[in-house]
Amino acid sequence: MGKFAFLIHPLSLEDVARYEPGAKGKGRAIIEKILSWMPCWTTAHITGVRSQATGKEIEGWFITVPLMPEHFVTLPREEVYGRILRACEMAAELGAEIVGLGAFTGVVGDGGVTIAERSPIPVTTGNSLTVVAAVQSLLRGAREMEIDPAETTCTVVGATGSIGSAAVRMLGDSVGRMVLVARNQTRLRKFAQEIAGEISAPVSFTTDVSEGVRQAQLIVTATSSTLEIIHPEDLQPGAVVCEVSLPHDVSRRVAELRPDVLVTEGGNMRVPGEPRFMRVREQGEEFDLGLPPATALACMSETMALALEGRNENYSLGRGIRLQQLYEIEEMAARHGFELADLRAFDVAISPEQIARTRDAARVARLGRAVGGNP
Ligand SMILES: NC(=O)c1ccc[n+]([C@@H]2O[C@H](COP(=O)([O-])OP(=O)(O)OC[C@H]3O[C@@H](n4cnc5c(N)ncnc54)[C@H](OP(=O)(O)O)[C@@H]3O)[C@@H](O)[C@H]2O)c1
Repeated sequence: MGKFAFLIHPLSLEDVARYEPGAKGKGRAIIEKILSWMPCWTTAHITGVRSQATGKEIEGWFITVPLMPEHFVTLPREEVYGRILRACEMAAELGAEIVGLGAFTGVVGDGGVTIAERSPIPVTTGNSLTVVAAVQSLLRGAREMEIDPAETTCTVVGATGSIGSAAVRMLGDSVGRMVLVARNQTRLRKFAQEIAGEISAPVSFTTDVSEGVRQAQLIVTATSSTLEIIHPEDLQPGAVVCEVSLPHDVSRRVAELRPDVLVTEGGNMRVPGEPRFMRVREQGEEFDLGLPPATALACMSETMALALEGRNENYSLGRGIRLQQLYEIEEMAARHGFELADLRAFDVAISPEQIARTRDAARVARLGRAVGGNP
């Protein structure tokens, strides 16, 4: 049986309690103190993931790296690498043949390259399938909201990153115009020049998130920001926002103030077989991933798909994922039975009725704008 592991970490204080029930009810200061001395631990055991194509079954483990998103960017780089590598060693000790780097464990430094060099087993960030799922999710959102991508502007926030740059490549021949957003202007300009020769959509760039967002009906956000950066005031009437970033970077105020905007979480997939995510310490208890049953993040799904395929090799690493790799993992995941999960936003499912209401509100808001009103 193939074996995999996937590294997770708390994205918020609520997450700490979800991963470690002993932390429930404790304040931020105590939790941060506890995290600073806590070793990595094996949080969940995954069974029942089975390929639709071959019938092969795999098992795996979620290993928690006890650092919050801000710790990954503020602590000394070698200390963070040390913690991640300890988790990779634990994965190898459990018998895993490949390990996925979840959320900021795959963002820190060079996007998994250094970790892969030092890890005892092959590594992937899972970013290729994340991009595939995000693009599918964005295009599904566009269909629901009656937007023709070829006629519209798409803004990618975090465009120079591992996920953002690959999303630009994958969407670049399908949208009318492409706007790239990130903070570092030098990297942004260089990437804009490089990509302009690869995709058919005209390309522009800005370091101002609001300015970039204001130009588009379709938005992908895949940043390593630990703060909310997409605000309701900037969104066009009837816009679709595909939010890949973890932690979330779309303001929760969008849900309250913009009934005409469709926000979708970019990267959730249904896992084939009868997957079970069980706690390791609290025997018999399910591990709450915060997603519907049999659903996992696309980055986890990529790690599982590679294990099902027996492709125990370094896969998505660094910030230059090519189209060929995106199409390869898309085909591989689909063959084993992974599918895009139902749309979700702000941690809850979006019902068809809710989408219909958003579509109606978007029609009204677009009309209002067309006759000179505010969105
Ligand atoms: N949903 C999923 O399944 C899934 C899977 C994997 C990863 N993720 C999440 O996806 C996000 C991106 O991951 P990645 O590996 O692509 O990271 P990455 O390679 O580090 O890229 C981050 C990008 O965001 C930009 N950025 C950072 N802060 C920004 C800000 N305040 N305003 C505008 N741009 C900003 C960076 O450029 P500058 O530094 O120049 O601004 C860069 O372009 C992370 O939040 C990660 O946790 C989600």
